Amino acid sequence: MMKNLMNRRILLGVSGGIAAYKSAELIRRLQDLGADVRVVMTRAAQEFITPLTLQALSGNPVHVDLLDPAAEAAMGHIELARWADLIVVAPASADVIARLTLGKGDDLLTTVCLARRCDLVVAPAMNEAMWHNQTTQDNLQVLKQRGIQQIGPASGGQACGDVGMGRMSEPSQLAVEIANCFESGELAGKTVMITAGPTREAIDPVRYISNHSSGKMGYALAQAAVDAGAKVVLVSGPTTLACPEHVERIDVVSAQQMYDACMSRVQDADIVVASAAVADFRPVTVAEQKMKKTGQETMTIEMVKNPDIVASIAALETAPFVVGFAAETNDVIAYAKYKMQRKKLNMIIANDVSDASIGFNTDHNAVTVLTADTQQTLPEASKFQLAQSIVTAISKELTNGPSS
Ligand code: PMT
Repeated sequence: MMKNLMNRRILLGVSGGIAAYKSAELIRRLQDLGADVRVVMTRAAQEFITPLTLQALSGNPVHVDLLDPAAEAAMGHIELARWADLIVVAPASADVIARLTLGKGDDLLTTVCLARRCDLVVAPAMNEAMWHNQTTQDNLQVLKQRGIQQIGPASGGQACGDVGMGRMSEPSQLAVEIANCFESGELAGKTVMITAGPTREAIDPVRYISNHSSGKMGYALAQAAVDAGAKVVLVSGPTTLACPEHVERIDVVSAQQMYDACMSRVQDADIVVASAAVADFRPVTVAEQKMKKTGQETMTIEMVKNPDIVASIAALETAPFVVGFAAETNDVIAYAKYKMQRKKLNMIIANDVSDASIGFNTDHNAVTVLTADTQQTLPEASKFQLAQSIVTAISKELTNGPSS
């Protein structure tokens, strides 16, 4: 199924009516499309379905009270309103529609709707006589003029025995229409695994061999992939960076750990981007105690090759689309092309690191995106801007395929 609510935060407002039981199903359908769902219930809604049910389904505490200091301290009405990418009131009773029209803030749901900066969608559900009431129709007209989208209602048998307009749209239909409120990102429905940062290869309990990678390029790629609608798994060596929102980060230290983490999750990935600066070798043995320097003028550490993560992924029978990086100081394009062929990558990002002001541990970079038959130069820009361009290049390549 197309996951076009991936990384989207939906605040579901449930008001009083028999259709409130359908909210439980709606939460599931929204989650199936990738949404993170939080729920606000009116007092009347709680007469039809319990907050506990919706809490269990949404995996988040259900918000019910505007004047509860404890709830407000945990996540207040302003924070809830800020958190949401979209507020959906489903079912929206005639009463809640009237209160929204008047701009009332007499309970948590209407207050959050007043404080929102995002769009609002209502899914009316009521008895058909209430639906046809001129006041309800006038109120909905006002909401429409204010840009509030209305989904449904449908026509059919009603709980009270009447037949006519007023049934809330079915949850699966609602979820699709809610997803249509968002533009679909370039990587919607894709799972992307990204490696980032350095690895550390232990010599003894206090010393290690590493490099100057900060992880900035990989974390920028993770953010750009999330923004493009992807599900993102970030396998990160040691960095001081905060994990971008909606990203699942797996922390590793050594190249072997990075390899193990990647191999255990690669079967879920459609795309792998290897931006980590992985140590090619590690000491054959790690001393159990801190090594002593007394009486020694030189020291030799025997090293053994680490597994090549990106090449191992590209060699899989059902390999994802694999993007590597090549940090080079000379003959950048030629070496990068050679690496792409040797490691059987679909794309490589050639990174000229001869200029210390870009590349390793800086906020800027300049790269060339190479595939078997294309070459695109991306001049110096912030790592985030470059990450966005790299995401676009990957998405184009996936859509168009390699030109023959
Ligand atoms: O982290 P920053 O400070 O933001 O810096 C970003 C960066 C300069 C580290 C990044 O842009 C970059 O160029 N990363 C690749 C660094 C590198 O040294 O590549 P390499 O030539 O050793 O390896 C080529 C490719 O194989 C890379 O995709 C690498 O992740 C991968 N590799 C290498 C060795 C190994 N054992 N396993 C691998 O997967």
